[in-house]
Amino acid sequence: MTDIAIVGAGYVGLPLAQVFADAGRSVVLVDVSQERVDRILRGESYIEDVPSETLQRLVSNGLTASTDYDVLRDADSILIALPTPLSKQREPDLSIVLSATERIAPRLHKGHLVVLESTTYPGTTREQLQPILERSGLTAGKDFYLAFSPERVDPGRTDWTTKNVPKVVGGLTPACTERAAELYRSAIDTVHSVSSPEAAELTKLLENIFRSVNIALVNELAQLCDRMGIDVWEVVGAAASKPFGFMSFQPGPGLGGHCIPIDPFYLTWKAREYDFYTEFIELAGKVNENMPYYCRSLISQALNHGARKSLSGSKVLILGVAYKADIGDMRESPALKILQLIQNAGADVSYHDQHVPELPEFGLRPVPMEPDAYDCIAIVTAHSTIDYEDLVDRAHVVVDFRNATGKKGRESEKVWKL
Ligand SMILES: NC(=O)c1ccc[n+]([C@@H]2O[C@H](COP(=O)([O-])OP(=O)(O)OC[C@H]3O[C@@H](n4cnc5c(N)ncnc54)[C@H](O)[C@@H]3O)[C@@H](O)[C@H]2O)c1
Repeated sequence: MTDIAIVGAGYVGLPLAQVFADAGRSVVLVDVSQERVDRILRGESYIEDVPSETLQRLVSNGLTASTDYDVLRDADSILIALPTPLSKQREPDLSIVLSATERIAPRLHKGHLVVLESTTYPGTTREQLQPILERSGLTAGKDFYLAFSPERVDPGRTDWTTKNVPKVVGGLTPACTERAAELYRSAIDTVHSVSSPEAAELTKLLENIFRSVNIALVNELAQLCDRMGIDVWEVVGAAASKPFGFMSFQPGPGLGGHCIPIDPFYLTWKAREYDFYTEFIELAGKVNENMPYYCRSLISQALNHGARKSLSGSKVLILGVAYKADIGDMRESPALKILQLIQNAGADVSYHDQHVPELPEFGLRPVPMEPDAYDCIAIVTAHSTIDYEDLVDRAHVVVDFRNATGKKGRESEKVWKL
């Protein structure tokens, strides 16, 4: 018997497996990708939060992986950590989660605990998963336990990890909640129980909508600050000195990652069923989605005024293309949009990012850091390994969307800041 099977060995599944394995629980990861399964079994990590040395230790202590859903039969608990993207029409696409649930149902047995960890709209666990799982002939809340528990991992972060971020849990019945809470308590420091899967589902969306709306607010302010000649970074930094009633959010080139640009629209879609329009979400989406276009105009202005050149024909280096600092995750990265926009405008674009070995959609590979070889360097993602002071010294024109160049950038005539 295995304690826990985790379906989906990605950014969420692999660190979750580590936390349970570290707590002495037996864990099997189930993934459709044979390549990923083989890599896990070889102790070769593809997720930066779980170093290969850690994975090797866990695998030698019994952590295992498989593409075969039959391993679920021998597990006490099944956690689902599968992608929940949006369709081309920006509607929830639950196809991956639901097809996996269809494969779980025939393997379900009495006493099983099933927990959905994927971010989704309120009602998914009860309205979508429960009926599929009950095709097994077993009844949720009676024969097996069903709950939702959102994953809150922030990839690349070391202070708050899967282990010490409190875990919110909401089950179909109090017994379902308790069974899931008990499982998480065995490995995670704090568990916060709520009364239903819907409350747990909406908790995760509230957290991400909160970020999206507040980022949009400072992004809007950044554009006004540009017209007013005020440094938005100075203002945000000063406001952050207030010890209560203010939470600091940074402006930037747009939203990235698998969560913030996508998850809020899960709620927008569901709200329509209740004749409700989630206007904050739409407005934030509009402001944030416009940022790459605004960044294009800043690059163009910087080239005009700083180098007397037009964007068309200029050599532009995009510095940092991952969606956030110090990781290689490219999902929804605003750098891709900026790259496409300035390439369409006729710029000769290159990129430098030690975490991203290629951008196949542009046929690009990273170039070495030679700041003086470009008409303009646009800092889109501020990886901590770059010496930004040196960059300002050596570059012709710098456009800094992250305040990476700090005080030096503020004082240099070569640097244009968001
Ligand atoms: N990445 C994050 O930072 C983060 C944070 C919090 C919540 N979430 C949520 O967690 C969920 C999972 O996201 P992720 O980032 O781990 O995704 P991911 O793409 O990194 O990993 C998903 C894994 O599932 C596998 N897979 C796909 N279809 C499968 C199937 N039918 N059966 C078994 N395996 C299958 C893939 O091969 C992949 O390894 C999403 O709902 C996401 O919104 C993600």
